[in-house]
Amino acid sequence: MLEHKKIIVGITGGIAAYKSCEIIRRLKKLGAQVIVVMTENAQRFITPLTLETLSENEVVTEMFPEKKVVGVRHVSLAQWADLILIAPATANIVGKIRTGIADDILTTVVISTKSPVIFAPAMNVNMYENPIFQENMEHLKNKGYRFIEPETGDLVCGTGKGRLPEPATIVGQVVKLLTGKKDLQGRSLVVTAGRTEEPIDPVRYLSNRSSGKMGYAIAEVAQKRGAKVTLISGPSALSPPSQVNFIQVEKAKEMHSAVKSHFGRAEALIMAAAVSDFVPSMVSPRKIKRKEEELLIKLKPSADILKEMGKRKGKKILVGFSLETENEMRNSKRKLKEKNLDLIVVNNPNVPGAGFEVDTNQVTLVDRKGKVERLPLLSKKEVAEKVLDKVSILLKKREKSKK
Ligand SMILES: Cc1cc2nc3c(=O)[nH]c(=O)nc-3n(C[C@H](O)[C@H](O)[C@H](O)COP(=O)(O)O)c2cc1C
Repeated sequence: MLEHKKIIVGITGGIAAYKSCEIIRRLKKLGAQVIVVMTENAQRFITPLTLETLSENEVVTEMFPEKKVVGVRHVSLAQWADLILIAPATANIVGKIRTGIADDILTTVVISTKSPVIFAPAMNVNMYENPIFQENMEHLKNKGYRFIEPETGDLVCGTGKGRLPEPATIVGQVVKLLTGKKDLQGRSLVVTAGRTEEPIDPVRYLSNRSSGKMGYAIAEVAQKRGAKVTLISGPSALSPPSQVNFIQVEKAKEMHSAVKSHFGRAEALIMAAAVSDFVPSMVSPRKIKRKEEELLIKLKPSADILKEMGKRKGKKILVGFSLETENEMRNSKRKLKEKNLDLIVVNNPNVPGAGFEVDTNQVTLVDRKGKVERLPLLSKKEVAEKVLDKVSILLKKREKSKK
């Protein structure tokens, strides 16, 4: 299952270090090549000799080994690995990598790699729940690093969350990541996300509540499935997924020109952004002063980006999102036709757990033939997988029709 896969197992100074023996044994059994990289403190818990025997490779422990090795070892290791698994990962290593510290061989390899990195944290419950650790973990997750959640149970000191999951669970996650779907390999996708902000005067703007979570999830999942992704995003508090071509915009007009300039090279455009339908007709150069009488702000419609791309789409796949608070299906089907879309993702913000800001969404997918698929309440990542399943099928069909 993992034949030809090259994995670095990073081991840090936690009590669960002994479990890494079983992790390595299982990875080897599945056919992977394993190189162990240990921190100095990890060697207080487990000996390199044991790991050398299990991994059938020299264990790397030093940044500056006495026995000179040819080349720059941390760079060659970082390039060699298809994946780096740090199990167990101490609070210390998570904090160091979050801040970019590279003061030993393991942290230096991690900072030098472009391959996926999975952390399997294990520690005392108070360490795990410490807001500093939680914040470090969130930060790294937003940067595209993956985490295997620790289990709740008996720990060396007390009970709670922080126990390293069983080796089989950890190896299962490695297998999933390395052998996961690559059905969008080499495809070029443009994804839009977030809201736009339309200035009224130098300090005020017109906007909406879109957080960007749906579009960012699509970009991340598409990238993992092998696509070359350009993410065009309006203002959002999220960090862009690593390895996507990220373009930041603010206004509907900027979103329009960014989409236009990237549409030509794209095979599919997924418009998950909530672009303002209306923008102020005039932007006051000075802050509008408070007055007693009513203030009227005149709005004009913004360019309909999707409709315009629909006219120029040729063989490209076009996916739109529709947010309706009434007659959602009727209005969405009309939109799909009018804008020449291949798929429309209909969501209703009034359904609990769906719409803006939350991590879940409840959507209905409608295709050109009028086929309706109502999905249950799912995480936005799961919704992204479902939308991309459809995009992948549509791209394959388009290919066949070209032949
Ligand atoms: C007996 C013992 C057990 C420890 N277990 C853990 C642990 O499970 N998780 C953790 O984050 N730190 C644990 N620590 C603390 C780390 O060893 C310490 O933070 C160290 O600096 C980590 O170094 P490293 O991340 O470079 O390996 C433990 C320390 C001792 C003495």
